[in-house]
Amino acid sequence: MLKLSEPTLLRSQNLIDGQWRDASLGMRFAVTDPATAEAFASVADSDAGDASLAVDAAAAAFPAWSRRPARERAQLLKRWHALILAHEDDLARIISTEQGKPLKEARGEVQYGASYVEWFAEEATRICGDIVAEAVPGRKLLVLKEPVGVVAAVTPWNFPLAMIARKIAPALAAGCTVVAKPAEDTPLTALALAGLAQQAGMPKGVVNIVTASREHTPGVVDAWLADSRVRKVTFTGSTPVGKHLARESAATLKKLSLELGGNAPFIVFDDADLDAAVDGLMASKFRNGGQTCVCPNRVYVHDTVHDAFVERLAQRVGALHVGPATEDAAQIGPMINARAVDKIARHVEDAVARGARVVTGGKRVRRADGPNYYAPTVLVGATPAMALSCEETFGPVAPIFRFRDEAEVIRDANDTPFGLAAYFYSSDVRRIWRVAQALETGMIGINEGAIAAEAAPFGGVKESGYGREGSRHGLDDYMHTKYLCQGQLG
Ligand code: SIN
Repeated sequence: MLKLSEPTLLRSQNLIDGQWRDASLGMRFAVTDPATAEAFASVADSDAGDASLAVDAAAAAFPAWSRRPARERAQLLKRWHALILAHEDDLARIISTEQGKPLKEARGEVQYGASYVEWFAEEATRICGDIVAEAVPGRKLLVLKEPVGVVAAVTPWNFPLAMIARKIAPALAAGCTVVAKPAEDTPLTALALAGLAQQAGMPKGVVNIVTASREHTPGVVDAWLADSRVRKVTFTGSTPVGKHLARESAATLKKLSLELGGNAPFIVFDDADLDAAVDGLMASKFRNGGQTCVCPNRVYVHDTVHDAFVERLAQRVGALHVGPATEDAAQIGPMINARAVDKIARHVEDAVARGARVVTGGKRVRRADGPNYYAPTVLVGATPAMALSCEETFGPVAPIFRFRDEAEVIRDANDTPFGLAAYFYSSDVRRIWRVAQALETGMIGINEGAIAAEAAPFGGVKESGYGREGSRHGLDDYMHTKYLCQGQLG
């Protein structure tokens, strides 16, 4: 049972035009605790009609919101930020219960998500265009930045608070209004966050949240894709869905930000500080139980340091405590659902059948209180023939590939359609620049495993998508550029 200090944070209806409403057809769907695989709440199961109502509200709110002085928008965002932090404990409990991550990590996610709200509150007041030197006497050339309009945000389950915060905050900072659909596994955090935005004083219609089950999600999203009033779609999730959004939004040529799948390489060169590399891999691979798009999926270790690295890594991984958020010691929570555990098990079985060896883990964790646990795992002898080398495992599995030279490892690291994040450890400054330039990804951790920050541009290249979240670039993605040319100035 989920107990909160502020029970009103637990919402079960859509937020449309400042009102909490049931789905128009009265349908609901269950929200499940991944730790027990049991339903503990239910929320509105919306359809295309609800999706259109949300756009009606966002489109009606847009003119006044976009004209509001940036300082006022910033103040509202700052109030929202303060309320998020004031409710850190409750929000973390909601996140842990619907998503499964240990409470300590969930608290970290609340702070991480809030940092985007604060950052974009500050950036709102720094939106500026250009005055360009005139080419012809008597003319002034000016460049303005304007909000794109209504934004549709479709967000994932792995960071139920941070991902929606880092889409809604820049949209509002830019002067856009939002319709958002959180993942069907984790709708409660988004609803709680929207409740706090309302409490902060956001005008009605500026933030609208529509929840839908797996079955009805396509109806909601397709309604937004077809609606010419929606001028931008921002999505975090899988590459196949990202491609669908790109195709379907073409008819109305919406602006798109797509943060899609990854297949991050993590490279340990022979000149690396091995302890730092193990620390970095623990931080990047086992965060959120390995369920992040930027998690290393392939760990390349130089032949001469391979055994020492694997020994140190296996000791750390084997000591990780697996359990539900209700256990203070938990470091790896349950996976999001049974399908996720099945995929991890399939990847490990495939790897072993193709010659990999399990150093630690390699099996489901059987607990009386729930079925969705998988043991943190280190595999050696990984090769490109294995499924885990080309598909995202999205779980706590570190497959180690042995390599012998720099050119070979760069070629293998880039041999993927994805290009979200990469990591490498080296102490040679010339190699650092060479490798950083050669890796085909949008983000690179150099002697660092934790790279995400509100001040940095988060996003990928190749089939990992386009657009950036965080940093000034993250605000730019919610604006278009308008050029004014004034003549007859004498
Ligand atoms: C993601 O997994 O999509 C986001 C992870 C992050 O923000 O670090």
